[in-house]
Formats: sequence, C-alpha cells, structure tokens
Amino acid sequence: MRRASAGCRACDLWERATQTVFGAGPVPARVMLVGEQPGDREDLEGEPFVGPAGTILGKALDEVGIDRETAFVTNVVKHFKWRPSGKRRLHERPNRTEVGACLPWLESELALVRPAALVLLGATATAALAGPDVSVTRDRGRPLSLPHAALVTATVHPSSILRAGERRDDAYAAFVRDLQSVARWLESNAA
Ligand code: URA
Repeated sequence: MRRASAGCRACDLWERATQTVFGAGPVPARVMLVGEQPGDREDLEGEPFVGPAGTILGKALDEVGIDRETAFVTNVVKHFKWRPSGKRRLHERPNRTEVGACLPWLESELALVRPAALVLLGATATAALAGPDVSVTRDRGRPLSLPHAALVTATVHPSSILRAGERRDDAYAAFVRDLQSVARWLESNAA
C-alpha cells in the first residue's frame, strides 16, 4: 500500500510535494491517530508528525501513558499542500476534492490497522471521517458513534496548541485531558 501510494496522482498535490507521506506505526495497532496532512518537515522526511506538531503530540501521548511507538499515526491527505512565502512554504488547508481523492488510502489504512481506538486530530480529520455534523469544539473528548473503531473520538490538532499564544498552556492541558480519556478507555478495554 505504501509503495502504491508513493505514485499517487489522484489529485494535483503530488506536483509540489516532495513525496507521499504514508502512515507509520505497527499494523495492526490498538490506537490510530489521524491528522490533516504532512507539514514541511514531514514532507521532507517522509514520515508523519515528525515536526513541531509531532513533538507536542508525542509529549501529550507520553503524559497519558500511550507509547507513541505502539500507535499508528497518519493523515487524511498524504501530500503537503503549501504556498510560497519568501523562502518559507506555508501550509494550506486541503480542499474537499483533495480530501476525497486521498480518502481511499486512509480507508485502506483503517482496514489494515483495525484500531480499537481512533483519534481524529482537528477539523479536517473530523470532517473526513465523522462528517459535517461533528464539531471538534463541541464534541471533543467524547465517544462518537461511528463504525471505524470501538472508540472514535475527536480532539484539536496539536498545531492549534502551537498557535494558541497566551492560552497555550490551557490548550495543551485540554488536549492532554482528551487523550487521557482515550488512555482510560484503552485500559478498561484491554486487548
Ligand atoms: N500536521 C499534520 O496534520 N500531520 C502531520 O504529519 C504534521 C503536521
């Protein structure tokens, strides 16, 4: 699957991206976390969540006792969408067509990984898998009734914590609380 996705031309994003960034982690895995799309670092390294958002995610997982190495981590969209700003490449949100074009890869990952708990990180992942009626702000941290896993839950994207300015500590604490619910669920639903 990873090899096939490397040549994906289902939308135009491949043209400006360095490479396809497929999910990473054990298969199967009890926990799967889904972000939006690779960022600048992920695009260069070919691995999901290895940049600043990944550092926050790893720290929060560590705090709640979920070993990141045991989780499968991926994104809805597998190519970095960006626009130039001087020498920098600025993240651009993928549109519905791009998300739709990439969705078969995520569905295949889900079918192979068969997670017990699925965590949707941010609005793009939540809209892609939970639909437009679920709001991250309103529904974060609670179980969503969806068929993808025994527990499906949404929380903020870790990069929103980096952008939270003065509210950063609170935003991080709330993120940790959401992941804590996942950790508790995993404990009480041991494999
Ligand atoms: N943001 C994401 O959504 N995914 C990554 O892999 C990195 C940053």
